[in-house]
Amino acid sequence: MSFDAAFRSDDSYFGARPDPLLTEHVHQLDSRLPLLDVGMGQGRNAFWLAQRGFSVDGIEPSIVAHEKVCELVAEEGLSVHPYPCTFEEFEAQADSYGAVLALGLLPVLSREGIALLGSRVDQWLVEGGLFFVTAFTTDDPAYPRIARRWSKAGRHSFVDAQGNRRSWVEPGELPRLFEGYEVIHEREYMGPMHRHGDGPLHQHAIAEAVLRKS
Ligand SMILES: C[S@@+](CC[C@H](N)C(=O)[O-])C[C@H]1O[C@@H](n2cnc3c(N)ncnc32)[C@H](O)[C@@H]1O
Repeated sequence: MSFDAAFRSDDSYFGARPDPLLTEHVHQLDSRLPLLDVGMGQGRNAFWLAQRGFSVDGIEPSIVAHEKVCELVAEEGLSVHPYPCTFEEFEAQADSYGAVLALGLLPVLSREGIALLGSRVDQWLVEGGLFFVTAFTTDDPAYPRIARRWSKAGRHSFVDAQGNRRSWVEPGELPRLFEGYEVIHEREYMGPMHRHGDGPLHQHAIAEAVLRKS
């Protein structure tokens, strides 16, 4: 299913609550600097941060999600600034964000896309800024099925006939993808059973990290 179709089917397709990585590490964020949420989806993380006084720019190429976020911004008057584009198209001044979030984004990027994201994040973050990032590891229950059925398009990366992409990292690999950062937090765990919209119950092998640009 495309992201547009997913977001049309459910107002909180990836859940209504913020990512636990964010709630557990929000105290590390500097509220004087703007934050950037890359692949903000329907804005569950950006709105949660804005409710706590942060100013958040959000990048999201799904026009369905973008329009919904714009409606919510107008209704709630929160400091969320949505940009309807991919991170590859997004232009920002260097050294302008106190933190960049990429929550749930890596699994839908190619290996080249992940490398490019790393260099963009490095440009956008201030010195000492934080990068919040999550991925799925190859222990993910869906990995063997997708690896068997989809076409290989890079290391642990696959595409289906519609061009949908899934990429996984190896256990322990996530922080090593982004060199030159201090690892503030790193964890790998099996996430809770959940479903998206009326899809099947499933769970993910999650890798998460908070990295400081040094
Ligand atoms: C799994 S969703 C996660 C959404 C949100 N971060 C959350 O935690 O609810 C991944 C999001 O990344 C967006 N996305 C995909 N490719 C992107 C790209 N190249 N640049 C920016 N966002 C992208 C998708 O449209 C989708 O909304």
